[in-house]
Amino acid sequence: MSTSPVTVDVRLDRDALRLALERDARAGLLATPKTLASVWFYDDVGSDLFDQITRLDEYYPTRAERALLVEHADEIAVASKAVTLVELGAGTCSKTPILLDALVATGALRHYVAVDVAEATLVEATNSLAKSYPDLDVTATVGDFLHLDGLFAHEGPVLVAFLGGTIGNLEPAARHKFFADLDAQLAHADSFLLGCDLVKDRERLLRAYDDRAGVTAAFNRNVLGVLNRELGANFDVGAFEHVALFDEDHQWIEMRLRATSPQHVTITQLGIELTFEQGEEMRTEISAKFTPEGIAGELDLGGFVMDHQLGAEHGEFLLTLAHPYC
Ligand code: AVJ
Repeated sequence: MSTSPVTVDVRLDRDALRLALERDARAGLLATPKTLASVWFYDDVGSDLFDQITRLDEYYPTRAERALLVEHADEIAVASKAVTLVELGAGTCSKTPILLDALVATGALRHYVAVDVAEATLVEATNSLAKSYPDLDVTATVGDFLHLDGLFAHEGPVLVAFLGGTIGNLEPAARHKFFADLDAQLAHADSFLLGCDLVKDRERLLRAYDDRAGVTAAFNRNVLGVLNRELGANFDVGAFEHVALFDEDHQWIEMRLRATSPQHVTITQLGIELTFEQGEEMRTEISAKFTPEGIAGELDLGGFVMDHQLGAEHGEFLLTLAHPYC
């Protein structure tokens, strides 16, 4: 048995995650309308389902972002001069090698830190990366991207990558807080690479969140399985259907679970009972879509200067490279 070359840094252990889930679930499920935070999709089953989503024909963001990274990785690497790459919400690290290759080629890169809540997925992904990049010091940090303090303790300059459009899971106020918190943690010489999905044709957007094979539906419903397992709930997973819609006012995709018949649910661990009327919907995710100008304005408000905006001309997906004002 070889020992893992990856340092595993658990900032959120199983108990802490359970507590956070309890808090979120209690608040969200007792609210009207009911909601759940999308971070709870990503147990190991959910992470695997998301990985399948990224390979669906209908789900264009992963391919579009990968193409932009391939096209611009050298430019990003040279501009960032990064000694450390920190990737927030790294998941299976499927796009990471594109950045790593370009960063290694500059001769400066020493450390790679992958941050994600899905521990098993993250440890597996970083172990395989560490084998491909034996000279790199690789850390798998189990945590979420909302708790940033202490994450950037490695040698600078640091390049923080937040890819995939995951920023769109946050509502505008939470996005602003995220940008401002990140800005406060970074030095002037550090940089921030943000991937976000662009507003586009409604039908294409909707198809990306409601695929024919039903993988997104399974991903959405899996969150009920998480509640059943982690909180001793008794959701009848088959009694909820997947709903995806585009909210024009907020410019975001919303995913919901709709009860197809009246439901009575007990959540043992929380000591609460819930009812769903037939047709009642619970919001499980928002995925905001941006314009290049909109995201530039938000980064500016968060304290960032924009260095490059990449991909705006294709109208598919956008990569923004920025750095803190001071
Ligand atoms: C991983 C948050 C970027 O919002 O597109 C995919 C998650 N949800 N299909 C997204 C997701 C439904 C995805 N992010």
